[in-house]
Amino acid sequence: MRLSIALLGSVVTVSALSIGAAPKKKKFHAVNPKDFVYVDGLRLKDAKGLHYITGLNYWACMNLAADESQGGNYTRLVTELDQMASHGVNHLRIMASSEGAPTPQPFRMTPALLTAPGIYNDKLLTGLDICLDELSKRGIRATMTLNNEWQWSGGFAQYVSWARNNTLIPYPPSWNMSAPPQRETPGTGWGDYTTVLNGAHTYDEFTRFANEIYTNEVAEGWYKDHIKTIIERRNSVNGRLYSEDATIMTWQLANEPQSLSIALPTDPLYPWVSRISQYIRSLAPKQLVSVGLESKQGEAVFKAVHEVKDVDYATTHCWVQNWGVYDMYNPSAANLKAAQDFAVKFISDTSKWAKEVGKPVFLEEFGMARDNWENKEKEYPYLSSAGTTHKDAYFETIIGAVVSDFKKGGPYVGTSPWAYGGVWRPETQVENEFGMVWAGDPPHESPGWYDLYDTDEAMEIVARQQRDVARWIKSNHTNGYQIRI
Ligand SMILES: *[C@@H]1O[C@H](CO)[C@@H](O)[C@H](O)[C@H]1NC(C)=O
Ligand SMILES: *[C@@H]1O[C@H](CO)[C@@H](O)[C@H](O)[C@H]1NC(C)=O
Ligand SMILES: *[C@@H]1O[C@H](CO)[C@@H](O)[C@H](O)[C@H]1NC(C)=O
Ligand SMILES: *[C@@H]1O[C@H](CO)[C@@H](O)[C@H](O)[C@H]1NC(C)=O
Repeated sequence: MRLSIALLGSVVTVSALSIGAAPKKKKFHAVNPKDFVYVDGLRLKDAKGLHYITGLNYWACMNLAADESQGGNYTRLVTELDQMASHGVNHLRIMASSEGAPTPQPFRMTPALLTAPGIYNDKLLTGLDICLDELSKRGIRATMTLNNEWQWSGGFAQYVSWARNNTLIPYPPSWNMSAPPQRETPGTGWGDYTTVLNGAHTYDEFTRFANEIYTNEVAEGWYKDHIKTIIERRNSVNGRLYSEDATIMTWQLANEPQSLSIALPTDPLYPWVSRISQYIRSLAPKQLVSVGLESKQGEAVFKAVHEVKDVDYATTHCWVQNWGVYDMYNPSAANLKAAQDFAVKFISDTSKWAKEVGKPVFLEEFGMARDNWENKEKEYPYLSSAGTTHKDAYFETIIGAVVSDFKKGGPYVGTSPWAYGGVWRPETQVENEFGMVWAGDPPHESPGWYDLYDTDEAMEIVARQQRDVARWIKSNHTNGYQIRI
């Protein structure tokens, strides 16, 4: 553990620009750049005591914060950051990586941060600086995701392709914004999953290709170069070194790295986790390291990955529809209950395993579609006009399970739904010149599927969780030490 000095956070005033309303001033407690979050047993702590994460995924932050010439939109960025901060959000999981190619590649964040190994888009690096500075002012810390198993930011597959002389990437079916059906006004929506040429491969084929990163030394070398470049960067807005800024709580190896097998102790994922986490620790000893594992493959994989010495806490992602437990076209109570039961058991199992490993665990992804049976006969299955009765009940259950584990002294330390779409809506979307709409759903998936919008009840559930936990911490703990129960 690391020692922390009790320092009072400064209060800053941030102007909240909101459409149609006069600009108002909101006050948020800024992150003290020296107040690093640290692990103490099964808990996270900061200078004030217990640290509970009320998080959201906001992976496109650096792109939204970048110059307009790169498709950025600062007005939208600060509007959405103010919305999240005013709902008690104190953590965002964002991308600190994205890889392009010699030719424009489909299904991914564009423009990319890294256009070739070692070659950066400086305007996107500045976007990342701006993003972190704006987070810091609002008391929001970050998980910085440094790579990706999936195609939506380039990630593993792009590194492997680079290392293999630009071999074609065997893409699985991915959302193609320009495929039919198209709305009358070009660039305003719909599209479909592409299953020919690019997109004709299975997820198995794609994953096998991407996972060559675990054993390809050239690809690993470039990935480590990227890690070093980002961790050693100095923020051009506030002058802080990234490695010395407590706004960055965690460096994350990758989004959802997959093991090749469930049972094999010799899986190349494990030594890779060990090598990369040790490397990050050597460059950023004051900050935390997490892997980004979904933990869907059960106890053996969970423990093998999270027992690694330089991994500070475990991560979980819970995806009931993607894992075949929930059907978004089925309005029945039984369908909802199956999802809730699955989530409660998932939280309970992973809590037990984390306790056995002796580390905290963070539910850093989960989501549910809207009541899309209402959209079934409409022009697009993910219209925002659909209700959220199932989603709200599900969020109450899964967030409630984490909060209850936390209050009981369990290893769960917070939640982070997928993903904040803020002011974006499918009905009014317009692709920018790079073909991006920046929904909460990443570019390889149907926009609107898992978005949390600014007016959604889910945001109130997130906010109530924060207030409930804050009250509990205040009445039951002083300086991080438990005084009752
Ligand atoms: C930026 O986002 C705002 C919504 O916050 C939107 O009204 C505006 O049109 C966007 N600007 C550009 C250039 O896309
Ligand atoms: C790499 O690809 C280029 C262009 O496709 C080709 O000319 C070259 O021979 C390839 N090199 C290797 C080592 O395969
Ligand atoms: C997307 O769809 C369009 C229209 O069908 C097609 O021309 C294009 O090749 C597709 N893009 C990819 C990457 O598959
Ligand atoms: C503090 O803990 C006790 C025992 O668990 C509980 O009854 C009480 O409601 C808690 N206080 C708050 C504000 O949650």
